[in-house]
Amino acid sequence: MKGEDGQRIRRYTGSDAQMRELAAALRSGSLVAIPTETVYGLAANALDVVACRRIFEVKGRPLIDPLIVHVRGPEHAAELAYLGDDARLLMERFWPGPLTIVMRKRACVPDIVSAGLPTVALRCPSHPLTRRLLSLCGLGLAAPSANRFGYVSPTRAEHVEAGLGELIDYVLDGGPCDIGIESSIVSLADPERPTLLRPGAVSANELSSALGREVFLPLPREVGDEGPVEAPGMLTRHYSPATPLELFAHGSVPKAGALCLVNNGDPLALVHFARPAETYSHMEQQGVELFWLSESGQSAEAARNVFALLRRLDEGSYGRILMEMAPSGGLGDAINDRLCRAASKR
Ligand code: TXA
Ligand code: MG
Repeated sequence: MKGEDGQRIRRYTGSDAQMRELAAALRSGSLVAIPTETVYGLAANALDVVACRRIFEVKGRPLIDPLIVHVRGPEHAAELAYLGDDARLLMERFWPGPLTIVMRKRACVPDIVSAGLPTVALRCPSHPLTRRLLSLCGLGLAAPSANRFGYVSPTRAEHVEAGLGELIDYVLDGGPCDIGIESSIVSLADPERPTLLRPGAVSANELSSALGREVFLPLPREVGDEGPVEAPGMLTRHYSPATPLELFAHGSVPKAGALCLVNNGDPLALVHFARPAETYSHMEQQGVELFWLSESGQSAEAARNVFALLRRLDEGSYGRILMEMAPSGGLGDAINDRLCRAASKR
């Protein structure tokens, strides 16, 4: 499959002329990869069924997995969904920003976007380039993360090019993503039970204090459940590098047995959460290469780096990746959610 106009992807940095071209491309049904503060998205006009279908084709994404629609703000959101008081409160408090809100959809939202659900997921991103593009094109933009389905999400324009460069025409380069993991998703579909479907930079605690009541965590899906997935990847393998990935608890030292090398002699990548304080004995073991997610031990820095590092290690010829989990709480929980799915065997 080639890009829509048969050329290789063009990387734009946001001049006025480029932004007008991208807005026109979106209006005429093309796909554009866009920067957001969380990860890069693969965007199309959310009301254009053909363009949205192409998102699924390009990503290799199953049609049962609904898309997030990116909007300019609450008034734009009200054109696509029925907003209650809770939705307005959350938008007021967290938009623009890394919070996606699932609400009852209006009839104008095509079924392909919502995977046939009566709800739609809306988010107002804060990245200035994407905000400009949203205003210029005047559309709601359906945009899942701009990676092949199941692979590690892209946090730089070059990640998009590596995965989808042959398949789409444009990537808008907004630099490395600030947050680095996907938005928190809260569902207001059941007004009695606001539910956090995916952890992210906005925590369940912050959501409950904004709403003044409890925010629930999702009930686990049973293996073999069918029908549209409330938030895919909640149980199944997702965000996964091809290289086998194993995790160890935060603050622990991997057991000597865990450091054994794979048969073919490829080195092992040992990833700590923070830069180890002193020379570390594992470093000297032959065949083990040492990495870390953050210099300072801050979860925000680790979140910013985690997907880029997984991609980098997946390109190197490591036989295995052994990675320390983040400390629990706040953003650490969101990082661990992604790591557990990336390491999941199914
Ligand atoms: O940070 C983000 O949210 C990024 C950027 C590009 O905005 N987007 C993103 O999209 O992570 P994606 O497709 O990789 O994840 C979308 C998630 C899916 O797990 C999907 O099931 C959930 O949002 N979702 C979408 N519509 C939904 C709905 N109506 N009900 C429940 N979950 C929904
Ligand atoms: Mg994704």
